[in-house]
Amino acid sequence: MAKQTPVKESPAVVASRKRRMKWWNDARLGMFIHYGLYSQLGRGEWVMNRERIPAEQYQKLADTFAPKPRCPREWAALAKKAGMKYMVMTTKHHEGFCLWDSKQTDFNSVQRGPHRDIVREYVDACREYGLKIGFYYSLMDWHHPDGANCYHDAAAGRRFLDYTQSLVRELMSNYGKVDILWYDLAWPFGSAAAWEADKMNAIARRLQPHIIINNRSYAPEDFGTPEGHVTAEAVGRAWESCMIINSGWWGYVPLPADEWLTPQAIVRLLNQAVAGAGNLLINIGPMADGSVPPEAADRLTKLGKWLGVYGEAVYGKLDRVERMDGMSCGLWSRRGNTMYAWITRWPGRELAIGGLKTKVKAATCVATGKKLPFEQTSDRLVISGLPAKCPDRWCNTALIKLDFAGKPVQFLGAGLVDIGV
Ligand code: GLC
Repeated sequence: MAKQTPVKESPAVVASRKRRMKWWNDARLGMFIHYGLYSQLGRGEWVMNRERIPAEQYQKLADTFAPKPRCPREWAALAKKAGMKYMVMTTKHHEGFCLWDSKQTDFNSVQRGPHRDIVREYVDACREYGLKIGFYYSLMDWHHPDGANCYHDAAAGRRFLDYTQSLVRELMSNYGKVDILWYDLAWPFGSAAAWEADKMNAIARRLQPHIIINNRSYAPEDFGTPEGHVTAEAVGRAWESCMIINSGWWGYVPLPADEWLTPQAIVRLLNQAVAGAGNLLINIGPMADGSVPPEAADRLTKLGKWLGVYGEAVYGKLDRVERMDGMSCGLWSRRGNTMYAWITRWPGRELAIGGLKTKVKAATCVATGKKLPFEQTSDRLVISGLPAKCPDRWCNTALIKLDFAGKPVQFLGAGLVDIGV
């Protein structure tokens, strides 16, 4: 991922950040969609580069590209069912193929293949399902003749920047309100200045004053994008981890069911994201015709059922989990003086938690709403009256809510007594 280079942010962008980011911070969970010509080959979105497929040969995939009618509706329906609040779709991946009616290139889905504007269909589907709309846009472009030359040749560089800015302008002009601009892979230039990120992002913001922009044009902008791991960024910085949920690539790869994360493993990712008050963007790589792989549909449907029960621990304003150690049975998330214990290894009728320094006022089984009896001594909380087996049938994870008398603190250390280290 591109490291950031210093840029001077406009005071208006800084001043409006909190307001612009409010819905996004509350949303917590989104769907990433990697769909393009590469979906036909089933060997990931980097296949052109990894296999050094000659451009003339690769381009032919534009004529066989045949998304089934209105497939974005299927993605949006699943996102909604999965409890996701926004989507981010690859409008142009590294291969350079534009999924919209671009006037800058005929290497697009209206001139070639389906002769349809897939971005338009996607936007309509998001609106139909009440989901916020994100556009992924790869700055790197393997198709454009200047996409690599621009590094050595100043005239090519100028042309490529103009091309890039024109495409961004089209995307920001032709589809009504767009909520997120999600750049990717800023190659070959190596700085915000070389990409003219200030100018490019100012174009986007002028056309879409509410937009949220990620950090992959070298400019830090509104949020960080840890990829392939869920790690909180510095306090005060918004962040979103993007993750694939199988052992493949972002683009479609046919895989057996056991190469996919279990529903519980997906919930654990969500737990890590919310524990750091961050967001999680879960990827699906639709198949050649745009259908959702059944393994993805299965897992995300279960996630949605689970969120139907446990959403209160996920959506809306949350605080970072600080000064907490964890349990033998799972991890935490937090809202003020309330902690949620995410129990992924169900202990049976009793749950014991060590090292809590703050007084517990109430323990509740979130699934049933039932208050649970508990005893708290100086170093140990024992909650009883739990169901013998994990009450959750979707993701094998159930939450116990603990209300504390003050800011929750847990300290365990390595020994059996607290010696302060
Ligand atoms: C990387 C990959 C790209 C993928 C992206 C998702 O930049 O190059 O294929 O789209 O990560 O974050």
